[in-house]
Amino acid sequence: MIAITGASGNLGKATIQFLSQQVSPTNIVAIVRNPERVHDFIKQGIIVRQADYNNYETLLQAFKGVEKALHISTVGVDLKTAKQQEKNVVNALLENNVKHIVYTSMVQTQANRIFEGTKTSYETEKLIKGTKIPYSFLRNSMYMEAIPELIGDALHSGEIRYPSGEGKISFVSRMDIAEAIVKVLTESTHDNQIYEITGNKAYSFDELAKLIFTEKGIPVQHSDISEEFFRKELTSYRMPLEIVNLLVSMANGIKIGEFSYVDNTLEKLLGRKPLVLNEFIKII
Ligand SMILES: NC(=O)c1ccc[n+]([C@@H]2O[C@H](COP(=O)([O-])OP(=O)(O)OC[C@H]3O[C@@H](n4cnc5c(N)ncnc54)[C@H](OP(=O)(O)O)[C@@H]3O)[C@@H](O)[C@H]2O)c1
Repeated sequence: MIAITGASGNLGKATIQFLSQQVSPTNIVAIVRNPERVHDFIKQGIIVRQADYNNYETLLQAFKGVEKALHISTVGVDLKTAKQQEKNVVNALLENNVKHIVYTSMVQTQANRIFEGTKTSYETEKLIKGTKIPYSFLRNSMYMEAIPELIGDALHSGEIRYPSGEGKISFVSRMDIAEAIVKVLTESTHDNQIYEITGNKAYSFDELAKLIFTEKGIPVQHSDISEEFFRKELTSYRMPLEIVNLLVSMANGIKIGEFSYVDNTLEKLLGRKPLVLNEFIKII
């Protein structure tokens, strides 16, 4: 059986969509926090098990009888919670003698990254390697699908307010990532491999603004606001401080190039060209 955590999320659902074309639904275990959110899976015959990353016992039960597991990285919140959640997942996989762990990590994961999500991924990669269980890491750059959130109401206001300086992002399609994950889950050649999963080119927010004009005819400008202003804006939406800190760390990470790496591994995994940003911009 192949288990997938975060199965009710965007990447989880997309992955299950591709996986169920290749593997019998009765061999897929969708691990979710709220089973009522995934009625469709049950209708398809996919096994649904409840578990919460904060509750080790539920994870232990959820991974019973699983041979291969895809762990989709936790959403995070604060660093301490995120690290503990990931530790719970890895320990439960180890306890259940899982034979292969596929993990969605962050692009160019290494120690001393500014983005808190990458700090968590770095620790999780270390934990997984420590289990001695064969692993495959897909170190994903930022999703193209995250662009609408990143640019806010820019298509109407004409302004992208984001403190990223000239920092670039090698945006990649989440659907392409899901398809690549399924290759890794269903082929036998990916043991102990680390894949940097990125788009074919990195774009600064100035370049993204220009692309929006070229592809959609909507004039947009990037305003490189200060971190202080960004914090104030996020706080004004009544966001919890931990989320504000996470988002600020992401912007600062982008600014110094933590998301700018470009690699052609995704094309090799898919055996075709991945979606390019121009095409995605047309449909937002
Ligand atoms: N590369 C990028 O641009 C980018 C952008 C966003 C996120 N990410 C990372 O990629 C991951 C997947 O992305 P996504 O778009 O699929 O995110 P998503 O749609 O927000 O899905 C997150 C999943 O995590 C589950 N989850 C959250 N807290 C949990 C807990 N305590 N116990 C069990 N499950 C929990 C959610 O369950 P519920 O359905 O119950 O909430 C959901 O299934 C994210 O978690 C994040 O680490 C990357």
